[in-house]
Amino acid sequence: MKITIEDNKISQINAGLEIIFIANKNLNHKFVQDKKLLKKAGFKPSQDATCLLVSKNRLYVAVDTLKSYDIRTASATAIKTIKKTNYKSIKIATYLSHPRCTASIRAMVEGLLLGEYSFQNYKSKKSKSKLKEVIISTEGYIDYEVSVENYKKAVDNGKITAKATNFTRDIVNTTPEDCYPQTMANIAKKLAKNSNLECDILKTKELKSENMNALLAVGRASRHSSRVIHLAHKPKNPKFVISLIGKGLTYDSGGLSLKPADFMVTMKSDKSGGSAVLGLMKAISDMNLPIEVHGFIGAVENMIGGDAFKPDDVLVAKNGKTIEVRNTDAEGRLVLADVLCYAQQEIQADYIFDMATLTGACVVGVGHFTSGVMGNADEPVDMIVNAGKKISGEFASSLDFNRYLKETIDSKIADVCNIASTRYGGAITAGMFLSEFIDEHHKDKWAHIDIAGPAFVEQDWGENPHGASGAGVRLVLRAMEKLARKEV
Ligand code: BES
Ligand code: ZN
Ligand code: ZN
Repeated sequence: MKITIEDNKISQINAGLEIIFIANKNLNHKFVQDKKLLKKAGFKPSQDATCLLVSKNRLYVAVDTLKSYDIRTASATAIKTIKKTNYKSIKIATYLSHPRCTASIRAMVEGLLLGEYSFQNYKSKKSKSKLKEVIISTEGYIDYEVSVENYKKAVDNGKITAKATNFTRDIVNTTPEDCYPQTMANIAKKLAKNSNLECDILKTKELKSENMNALLAVGRASRHSSRVIHLAHKPKNPKFVISLIGKGLTYDSGGLSLKPADFMVTMKSDKSGGSAVLGLMKAISDMNLPIEVHGFIGAVENMIGGDAFKPDDVLVAKNGKTIEVRNTDAEGRLVLADVLCYAQQEIQADYIFDMATLTGACVVGVGHFTSGVMGNADEPVDMIVNAGKKISGEFASSLDFNRYLKETIDSKIADVCNIASTRYGGAITAGMFLSEFIDEHHKDKWAHIDIAGPAFVEQDWGENPHGASGAGVRLVLRAMEKLARKEV
């Protein structure tokens, strides 16, 4: 689907269908020419409600406000409706909530492309949308003056963001039979080639010589050996150096602490953190952000078998800390422990962010649609939380560490235990476990993002389809863009 912006009145643009947003329940706006028909159809103008008037070639979609998060989901809703029809081209006006601020244009483009997405790789009959073209008119719902150049920039950034998110969604949706650690390494290599990134892949031999024993233990029973992937975007004179770390469990069966059947389904999504890092590296490179960004992914499969690591094992992580294993299903933190150590050894970063589908407890705590953000200091946590709903459209809430919960991951026989002694606060105790593997000088520069809730949801929601949402890509990208704009 091609999206362009045309410096022309909406009535002058040729397209099969026009999308009209009804904002603030206002049916008296000049754009709303079918007030009577809408009333007759019983149209209730609350967010994302649609009314398709085929005889008029108009699709009305309601938005509660002109804020970007409302425009984004409404645009996705519009596309989902149009995809079921035979319209080939559509046109839409610009909807800005503030003078000069093009945020809702970018959100509109994001919504259109995110809403268009569907994963059909495993369908023998693929449904094809007839829709080929979207033309955005510079004519505004409110007459704000914005230069065409600024509109174009917003459209371009929206495209980059949505394409990177859809790229992540594709990886996450791929089955564990088709996407295992070496597959993730191949995706990274291909991305590096196409996007001008540096790429280094560590295989078993290198992982052993780097003492990444916790990660290796998790992957040991799998027929697919583990990989650590390092991608780098290195512009000249970067303003900041950032490390992004992702949990890339291509499958999490739970290991010997085997998951119950119902809980195992969807665990192909346990590679969502690593897949988000891949999408982020793509977007950061496509935007050519003036910051140096390193992406590290621990790509591992957690399986059962005679060679599996066990509850009762004590593992020695890369930084020498010993870990008592009491549950092999708390494997993500073991993988991340080593990858965090490796990332810090390789790169002295100004900020470190990790993304992981780390705990079911985070989903219990904040629900399916929100990520939990944790860390030792406010600054990096706030960078992510502030890039949340209003900016990126993703929901992110901070969860505070505390010393009382910290005591629950103490071990009687090792330096730390991989599960807590309490059954409550599991997202936070997992985050505090990770903190054990952050060096002193990086402690206040790190934030952990638990994306277990939003990464994979078995229902459509907002601009997200059933399945992988690409959680973390838009959220962290906006934080990176803000850093790239910062005066240094
Ligand atoms: N990958 C899971 C967490 C998860 C659960 C992600 C649901 C997405 C949806 C993780 O490896 C895990 O199994 N965690 C355990 C930890 C427990 C054993 C302390 C959990 O959350 O139950
Ligand atoms: Zn697990
Ligand atoms: Zn897991």
